[in-house]
Amino acid sequence: MNAPQSPAETLRAALAGLLDGLPPRQAAQAVERLIGHYRGATPTDAPILRDRADVAAYAAYRMPATFEAVRSALRAFAAAVPGWVPGGHVDVGGGTGAASWAVTATWGGVRPVTVLDWAEPALALGREVAAANPALRDARWQRSRIGAALTLESTDLVTVSYVLNELTAPDRAALVDATAAAAQAVVLV
Ligand SMILES: C[S@@+](CC[C@H](N)C(=O)[O-])C[C@H]1O[C@@H](n2cnc3c(N)ncnc32)[C@H](O)[C@@H]1O
Repeated sequence: MNAPQSPAETLRAALAGLLDGLPPRQAAQAVERLIGHYRGATPTDAPILRDRADVAAYAAYRMPATFEAVRSALRAFAAAVPGWVPGGHVDVGGGTGAASWAVTATWGGVRPVTVLDWAEPALALGREVAAANPALRDARWQRSRIGAALTLESTDLVTVSYVLNELTAPDRAALVDATAAAAQAVVLV
């Protein structure tokens, strides 16, 4: 009998083939565009992840590493608070859901999960990939803009991974206020 897959293996398998349907030239252009954005001047006032090609490129090339980085931070957090298990999780600027995968890899069980992002293509692909993870099958993937109007449902854990750098100073301040008001624990990566 085969050993069960680890969450990292499940994620890699779910991401494999993401670029298959994409013409190589389009995939290469999407990767170049993303590299340009992430090296260049952020924040932006419009989503960087604009379409399926951008999102597939981001997920294929960045998501496994982002997942590992967030999992490592969460492991350290879990070790510091033994016995604490989040009863609910909100992933702000969650994109394709790397941090949500990392939460499921850190604490077993199923909990209400909400992923918020302003980029609809990222949410759509995140939902698709998450179908491979039983703990994320009922997650809600919701369009939401981080800014002064942001309000978050009350929850145990909020994650914000690789997002702060993309925000203007006022939006960053609004996010910090909203997360502090909503959660028992906030993990920023
Ligand atoms: C570098 S990606 C990180 C995605 C995900 N958290 C991860 O760790 O893979 C930044 C994410 O923040 C989202 N984002 C940036 N500014 C935002 C804003 N003002 N409101 C909502 N989402 C925003 C982007 O759409 C993108 O999905």
